Amino acid sequence: MLIAPSMLSADFANLQRDIEMVNQSEAALFHLDIMDGLFVPNISYGFPVVKAIAKYATKPLDAHLMIVDPDRYIPQFAQLGVKYLSVHYEACTHLHRTLQLIRSNGMLAGVALNPHTPVSHLEDILEYCDFVLLMSVNPGFGGQSFIDRIYKKCSELREMINSRGLNVQIEVDGGVNLENTPKLKECGADILVAGNTVFSAKDPQQTISDLSAF
Ligand code: DX5
Ligand code: ZN
Repeated sequence: MLIAPSMLSADFANLQRDIEMVNQSEAALFHLDIMDGLFVPNISYGFPVVKAIAKYATKPLDAHLMIVDPDRYIPQFAQLGVKYLSVHYEACTHLHRTLQLIRSNGMLAGVALNPHTPVSHLEDILEYCDFVLLMSVNPGFGGQSFIDRIYKKCSELREMINSRGLNVQIEVDGGVNLENTPKLKECGADILVAGNTVFSAKDPQQTISDLSAF
């Protein structure tokens, strides 16, 4: 399983230390949660922090934009070296254009779905996605409980992708832990985001290794 530790749960007063921990771990990606206080009821961090993480990170950056009108900022994320960029289905009026803009800036394009948004809404856009991010909590905060319904959504999406012969990765984000990881693997997930489970662990590096082993 590919694990993307969410830096939202890192210690921002010791950010470089936590980045080095992720560099030395078996993590696949750095997950960066960008919140604007409009699309979600919280503000996280912006370009100066992304830039600081990019400076020390030795693994690809996966930025999850929980913001309205993300098109305005897409080139800036590319310039900072972001590789995976996801935008919310619920925040994009012209999603097809937005995904093309992400790809034309040299990044992998992802669509994030809130827990209430069915995977059937991807019917006409799946071909333009490199990955889909399924939210398994309501976006805005780390440390929330996993919503069980996501297993079914993940299986449905895996079936949709495979039946069309597409190469689209599934990322699951929110409340991921050692108990639900094996089940998410069975449901066809490729990448799991883990914030609280990693950073509140006694040994975060070992926890990343345990999650990756599934
Ligand atoms: C929530 C974010 C998540 C969050 C995950 O809005 O998208 O990436 O940081 O944190 P945990 O793993 O603690 O649920
Ligand atoms: Zn996220």
